[in-house]
Amino acid sequence: MKRIAIFASGEGSNFQVLADACRQGEIPAEAALMVCDRPTARVNERADRMGIERFTFSPRDYASKAEYEREIVRRLDEKGIDLVCLAGYMRILSDELLGAYGGRIVNIHPSLLPAFKGAHAIEQALAYGVKVFGVTVHWVDATLDGGRIIAQRAFSYEGSDLAELERQVHATEHPLYVETVKRLLNE
Ligand code: GAR
Repeated sequence: MKRIAIFASGEGSNFQVLADACRQGEIPAEAALMVCDRPTARVNERADRMGIERFTFSPRDYASKAEYEREIVRRLDEKGIDLVCLAGYMRILSDELLGAYGGRIVNIHPSLLPAFKGAHAIEQALAYGVKVFGVTVHWVDATLDGGRIIAQRAFSYEGSDLAELERQVHATEHPLYVETVKRLLNE
């Protein structure tokens, strides 16, 4: 059985669908570890409720990014993780993680990359007047939302309601992430 780790910083809805899909056998892997950089994030409760082991840390407790990433790598190694799925983990990875797990880390981003990189993609696309929105799953490298694209899905939205647009983005992300992770693990 392969093992995935899911990294998140906030709500954790993508964590939830990936973890559920693993548990239901739709993704052929165990969700063996959740990594979170914000102790107050809702995703922590989700992991606890599912009985999924987690490593939650505060970056400010470490002298540097290299130091906490070394700890993350140690925990990934300990679990024998095959694939790391970033799911709203709002940090750029550095050499420690990329050196150890590069080529085995994917991310989901709420835009049709390379448009609207960064932390506020949905708001920026709406403000720009975009009519076709979408989401991207891509390999992770040292650049912000910049690695090679694996999968994308687009949808039209002509309204101006941010909450409704966010709902549609999530509804597009969830099945795409599950399908893509499943495909990668079966390759
Ligand atoms: C998702 O929309 C994800 O695409 C985005 O954060 C959200 C997390 O939601 N990621 C980025 O913007 C990465 N640059 P969730 O915590 O409910 O899964």
